[in-house]
Amino acid sequence: MALYAIGDFHLSFSADKPMDVFGPEWKNHVERIRENWLKTVRPEDTAVITGDHSWGRNLEASRADLEFIAALPGRKILLRGNHDMFWDAKKTWKLNEEFAGRLEFLQNNFYAYGNFALVGTKGYCDEGRDTPEQLEKLLSREEGRLRTSFSMARAAGYRRFVMFLHYPPTSIYERESRFTRMAEEYGAEAVVYSHCHGRKRYGDSIRGYKNGIEYKLVSSDYLRFVPERIL
Ligand SMILES: [Fe+2]
Ligand SMILES: [Fe+2]
Repeated sequence: MALYAIGDFHLSFSADKPMDVFGPEWKNHVERIRENWLKTVRPEDTAVITGDHSWGRNLEASRADLEFIAALPGRKILLRGNHDMFWDAKKTWKLNEEFAGRLEFLQNNFYAYGNFALVGTKGYCDEGRDTPEQLEKLLSREEGRLRTSFSMARAAGYRRFVMFLHYPPTSIYERESRFTRMAEEYGAEAVVYSHCHGRKRYGDSIRGYKNGIEYKLVSSDYLRFVPERIL
């Protein structure tokens, strides 16, 4: 039994969005995702997919992309990315109901993996697009959602945590944030995130160990589309 993570499949079975325009590393990315997954993840394993699943503008337009993920072996837990228009955070229960037994959606809840709780939310960081007021609003909303996930897990008796974000845990080149502080407060053992694409972006946030927590970037292009083992 193993825990894997990878993020940012950017699928578009129902939309015309070829990803190789984003660079040669994205060529045939869907086939590579599937082949590498089949070689890596066994049916008894769990994988957290850290957002940006689909280019679809709504659930109908994303259905084929979600079915592609559902057909992969193993237990699949999905996190929300900034491009996942099909996923209304307030209606996560609906997705969980509709895909019950096939996909699990991590938002204002947590999932158990052995004696670990898998907690998380989309997160947010400063990419220079927001006013200070907007930035604060988005950061504090995500901070609240992350705290909900942690506190539900702790109330259920969990003491060991792996924390997942879609956005990097800090804004560019920062070394701490409300998200890293919460990871430290709860004693998370790893913080796993994606969203950063292309060689110039891979170093935007923390990678490696800081204050006893391992930070891992798992964007699919960074991983060359091979799921990364977390536990
Ligand atoms: Fe992405
Ligand atoms: Fe993203």
